Amino acid sequence: MLNILLHGCCGRMGAAMIRIAAADRSVNICAGIDPNAVERNFSFPVFSRADCCTVSCDVVVDFSNAKALPALLDYCTMRELPAVICTTGLNDGAERRLNDATLQIPILRSANMSLGINLLAALIKKISGTLASTGFDIEIIEKHHRDKLDAPSGTAMLLANAANSSHSFDYVFDRSSRRVTRPKSEIGITAVRGGTIAGEHEVMFAGADEVITFSHQALSRDIFASGALTAAKFIYGKQAGLYDMQDVFAAYLS
Ligand SMILES: NC(=O)c1ccc[n+]([C@@H]2O[C@H](COP(=O)([O-])OP(=O)(O)OC[C@H]3O[C@@H](n4cnc5c(N)ncnc54)[C@H](O)[C@@H]3O)[C@@H](O)[C@H]2O)c1
Repeated sequence: MLNILLHGCCGRMGAAMIRIAAADRSVNICAGIDPNAVERNFSFPVFSRADCCTVSCDVVVDFSNAKALPALLDYCTMRELPAVICTTGLNDGAERRLNDATLQIPILRSANMSLGINLLAALIKKISGTLASTGFDIEIIEKHHRDKLDAPSGTAMLLANAANSSHSFDYVFDRSSRRVTRPKSEIGITAVRGGTIAGEHEVMFAGADEVITFSHQALSRDIFASGALTAAKFIYGKQAGLYDMQDVFAAYLS
């Protein structure tokens, strides 16, 4: 059985992870880390900070807050623990810290743990070069619940990078200060926030008199939790380095 330390166990994704893990006999959440655990009952010990955690585990799964990442990475590298990092909205410093940590431990990192989005990204990567070269403009629209901290979503950037893999278009997040027609060499990315939307993404290829749209809708957070558990099983025992969900699906589909 794989023992998982859940970083951010009191959050929305923490709750989904606990529920999905309870139905999987091959995993066990052995401890949690979250500063917000006061007066809440868990079936495992919860620590307020990574450096207070005394329970040993096999893998760390993180759904927390970008500011919490450096301390967690210190914890994982000191104990040589593999980690699945799902938190989005990292600043440049945290990105560098994460990349440095991959020299010492295996880290699987993805802005979106769902099968659907990762298959969509692979498809977008395949077709966007041809569509962009034949005059289609690329626009990405993402929608999330009102409490999401970062914008645009990490998934919108993951899809933008997939669409940009055979070009080097600029990303444009706001056109309100410009009075120019749309250049070919850009990808527009728009964020919508409201209500309890779990996550919707649309990649639009707009051409002359025709529009092709690919969309993905997360109907619950369980898809991310299931993907994170699959990722935890995959990363355990791997060599140090940076992995993503494309590696996981490649391994499972081969
Ligand atoms: N990769 C994916 O597929 C995916 C899917 C959903 C959400 N996310 C990302 O995961 C993160 C969490 O999402 P959420 O909706 O659960 O947010 P949330 O705000 O509901 O939960 C975050 C939790 O992290 C805790 N936290 C804050 N500081 C911490 C620290 N120092 N150590 C440990 N825990 C700490 C908070 O107390 C809270 O309980 C966000 O960055 C979100 O964008 C990623």
